Amino acid sequence: MKTYLVTGGAGFIGSNFIHYMFRKYGDTIRIINVDCLTYAGNLENLREIEDKPNYIFKKVDICDEDAITRIFGENEIDRIVHFAAESHVDRSIRNPNVFMKTNVIGTLTMLNAAKNQWELPDGSYKPDKRFLHVSTDEVYGSLPDGDGYFYETSPIDPHSPYAASKASSDFIVKAYVDTFGFPAFITNCSNNYGPYQFPEKLIPLIINNALHGKQLPVYGDGKNVRDWLYVDDHAKAIDMVLEKGRLGERYNIGGHNEKQNIEIIHIILDTLREMLPDGDPRKQNISDNLISYVEDRKGHDRRYAIAPDKIKAEIGWEPEIMFEEGIKKTIAWFFEHEDWMKNVTSGDYAKYYQDMYGVK
Ligand code: NAD
Ligand code: DAU
Repeated sequence: MKTYLVTGGAGFIGSNFIHYMFRKYGDTIRIINVDCLTYAGNLENLREIEDKPNYIFKKVDICDEDAITRIFGENEIDRIVHFAAESHVDRSIRNPNVFMKTNVIGTLTMLNAAKNQWELPDGSYKPDKRFLHVSTDEVYGSLPDGDGYFYETSPIDPHSPYAASKASSDFIVKAYVDTFGFPAFITNCSNNYGPYQFPEKLIPLIINNALHGKQLPVYGDGKNVRDWLYVDDHAKAIDMVLEKGRLGERYNIGGHNEKQNIEIIHIILDTLREMLPDGDPRKQNISDNLISYVEDRKGHDRRYAIAPDKIKAEIGWEPEIMFEEGIKKTIAWFFEHEDWMKNVTSGDYAKYYQDMYGVK
């Protein structure tokens, strides 16, 4: 039985990954989820699997070397999937320090703990051990409108403090591969969407606001482009890289689904109109008049677009869920989980929203 150590498993992608892995491998794997439960970590996301005997949750900060060392002392780990991070660009512009601590020092702590457990006296590693560092396309910076793609060989050119912290952590992983022969992969994925995404991010924020008749804030001219991928396709890619990837390599993950932010907002509004039954009071709230152009994000990257050629050619990964289907699944999930949304938007979220957007 392989043991996976997943960091940040109570967040958006981490929790979807854990569900994906239990659906795929059932009781033939064991998962240890290490998460310190920041505002973005939510054990609700894992309610259905929390009682499984092959699932263990540890409320631990990845920067806490002693606690991390203890976990490695008590468990022989086969796979590490490192999601834990501060992940929201707007928060990194307001408060960069925590991004550097978690994303850089936290990654270093995880690498050292894994190296200590896996390295043999002759400098080689125990067989079949793998560390996958989950990173982002934002490390490549920004592309001009309609021109070019990010390849694994593209220059690293981060702009936001978030992207700079992720680029730094990528470089540290690469240094461990190059210097110590450490068995790691780096994956750089495009924008994810799907169930359990925290409503500070564009898609769940727009769904939630539209259902409540609240303004839909569009930064700048709304023509910035992001390349959207349904979260299960990301989970599938991570699993495939772990099992079929070449150690030490970087793999881009993306599904060629580039859309302007304003297009995304119109698709969400149209899909909500289509999916909400007549007579549902929320349907009256859905209106294009909610769209509100607001001050642009500082240093706002114009366009992201991933070239997934390498992962397709070497590993055979391709996305399965196209945007039209994925956005319907996502909206259906939010319809069915109104309580989840209510819980995560109570408390601190209201303050964050007021500070960020200047309205309630
Ligand atoms: P998220 O913010 O939803 O979740 C982050 C999780 O990490 C939370 O559960 C949080 O509690 C935990 N965490 C934060 N600091 C921690 C610490 N010091 N110790 C332990 N746990 C800590 O993030 P997400 O959107 O799920 O992103 C997960 C990873 O994927 C991140 O590394 C991010 O950079 C990367 N990524 C995200 C996207 C995206 O579109 N969301 C795309 C590509 C890559
Ligand atoms: O590209 C991968 C990255 O995608 C991940 O590494 C990050 O963790 C993740 O947060 C995401 O970053 P973005 O900044 O692209 O996502 P966000 O949802 O914050 O914003 C998407 C686009 O929408 C971006 O161009 C900014 C814009 N936006 C966002 C919000 C929250 C708005 O116009 N209005 C908003 O209110």
